[in-house]
Amino acid sequence: MSTQARGLEALVDARKGEYGGGSTRVVAVTSGKGGVGKSTLSANIAYILARHGFRVGIMDADIGLANLDVMFNVRAEKNILHVLKGEASFEEIVLPLEENLWLIPGESGDEILKFSDATIVSRFFDEMEVLENLDFLIVDTGAGIGDTIQMFLKAADDVVVVTVPDPAAITDAYAMIKVISKIKERVLMVVNQVKNAKEGQKIFDTIRKVAAENIEAPLELTLLGTVRNDSYVSRSVKQRVLLCKELGNIGVAGDIEAIAVQLGEKKERKMLDEERESGIGNFFKKLLGQF
Ligand SMILES: Nc1ncnc2c1ncn2[C@@H]1O[C@H](COP(=O)(O)OP(=O)(O)OP(=O)(O)O)[C@@H](O)[C@H]1O
Ligand SMILES: [Mg+2]
Repeated sequence: MSTQARGLEALVDARKGEYGGGSTRVVAVTSGKGGVGKSTLSANIAYILARHGFRVGIMDADIGLANLDVMFNVRAEKNILHVLKGEASFEEIVLPLEENLWLIPGESGDEILKFSDATIVSRFFDEMEVLENLDFLIVDTGAGIGDTIQMFLKAADDVVVVTVPDPAAITDAYAMIKVISKIKERVLMVVNQVKNAKEGQKIFDTIRKVAAENIEAPLELTLLGTVRNDSYVSRSVKQRVLLCKELGNIGVAGDIEAIAVQLGEKKERKMLDEERESGIGNFFKKLLGQF
């Protein structure tokens, strides 16, 4: 990682707990190989979580095949880079999409790293308070392991690695997991474009086996879900309609819904854990437990 990236990362770490009151769950969606469905899944998972009543921000940290603004059928004139350059305020770039759902248009490439200057990053985080009480921030990262992507992965609470059954994608997913294992102890996986859930499970089992044999760092690899291959997915992108908005929870939309529900439940469990771990009640429990 470059010095610039490390500098920015340190700043992000230092200020991470300040926005969102620490309760925003940051979920980074990534992959080894490109074109495996990161943007499709990010957009639809974010939409479903918002429909379930969570306050959700979705950030496009990658400009790939189908940008998030295309998927949501909005036009992002300015993005995060404009904020960092001081050419726009954060409020100006955030696009409200639906009730409880906001798009934060991002920028691909490592140009963002040029702005690792302390004052700029501080200003950015100050502005980000607009979105203070988000429950989720879903970050659609690019494929591969560039500096910016690593920075997002490190800042995230959950990292979701997406793959498809194609052998090259599986190899790249494994390579990606190996890199992530150096910075995270838990990695979630989604196998997209499967014939059926069984095929997805089998692919996951293989990756988990190879990981257990070859990765030394402690790593908890969990299958978050599988998503079937359905030509309706690319058709919906072409028609500029959001898959899960159109289909509800039928078929492939149901597969994605199940993934979003799991993330929602994880978040709620974590809140319960936090309540258990902290707060005045727990303090007395610990105190009394000593006698
Ligand atoms: N479950 C699915 N069934 C059928 N087609 C799918 C499925 N998921 C994604 N696709 C199609 O695969 C293509 C790539 O999807 P998408 O753009 O979401 O991938 P990506 O990982 O974000 O790509 P990039 O790395 O370029 O950003 C799109 O044409 C999309 O419609
Ligand atoms: Mg994409």
